[in-house]
Amino acid sequence: MDLKRLSETAIDEVRKASSAEELFRIEKKYLGKKGELTKILRSLSDLPAEKRKETGKNANILKNTLEGEIKAKNEELSGKTKGVVIDVTAPGKRIEYGHLHPITQILNELIEAGKMLGFSVVDGPEIETAWYNFDALNTDENHPSRDHTDTFYISNDLLLRTHTSPVQIRYMQENKPPIRIFAPGRVYRRDSDATHTPMFNQLEGLLVDEEVTMSDLKGTLLYLVQAVFGEEREIRLRPHHFPFTEPSAEVDVSCGLCSGKGCKSCKGEGWLEILGAGMVHPNVLRAGGIDPKKYQGFAFGMGIERIAMLKYGVDDLRAFYDNDLRFTEQF
Ligand code: DAH
Repeated sequence: MDLKRLSETAIDEVRKASSAEELFRIEKKYLGKKGELTKILRSLSDLPAEKRKETGKNANILKNTLEGEIKAKNEELSGKTKGVVIDVTAPGKRIEYGHLHPITQILNELIEAGKMLGFSVVDGPEIETAWYNFDALNTDENHPSRDHTDTFYISNDLLLRTHTSPVQIRYMQENKPPIRIFAPGRVYRRDSDATHTPMFNQLEGLLVDEEVTMSDLKGTLLYLVQAVFGEEREIRLRPHHFPFTEPSAEVDVSCGLCSGKGCKSCKGEGWLEILGAGMVHPNVLRAGGIDPKKYQGFAFGMGIERIAMLKYGVDDLRAFYDNDLRFTEQF
């Protein structure tokens, strides 16, 4: 029998086999010691050289195919694939849904709240010039934050931005008041421990208009803080110093555990520091091309990881970036 016909009949017979005994007989007929395919394989050496290679190749392909067919048929006949009983009462497998990273969730909550107050979201470069990152923000030539030990420099003049505040300048240069923007994004500092990572996220806010006051700032911040932490929380402003604002304040949120009475979590203070803010310094408005005699503004900057740590009671910031699903799944 030639190989082609052999292949057709053998496969056909295997597929039609209705019992394990019949299948065994068919296997023997083709692949046994004196089987038809075995005979062909054994007599390859008698063939003329030019036919030997081709026939050998086809015979081996058929052998593999046939063995595969026999194995499949065997499984079918022994009930491995046929008549499998499905227990419809067995509990199903839960489908796991993915979700946004907790840092993204907090950012989105703040941005949504900001939209209610008319703030739009803008972007700025993560690689900045020293001018935008420091000079234009009224930061002294000798300010410690400019140190190579604190800031990642790419060259003398280029650096990884240390805060989102330079976006204030870039936006003011391109846009006239009234201005109401949020600038979220990554910032970089040479710092690494349980509460500092070399990269973290900030949200910058800037509002410039005529007749803007510190109480506008406080009202805005209270709204944003309550959107993230809940309406029962209060804020307080403490005098502070930033080069780019005057007056400047550090802003605290009342402790969620003791409502301001003082407990272990807030180290007896009743308050937790969450952000920096103030009235935009006239030099900063000027650097943005805005006349400080006509306009005022307020600005604030907050660390998103810090907010997330306080909201969720996480004490090691690095956990947010380890990508351990057992941690991130909880949010
Ligand atoms: N840029 C400050 C920082 O990274 C945060 C900040 C404070 C931003 C006061 C502001 C501000 O816009 O007014 O620590």
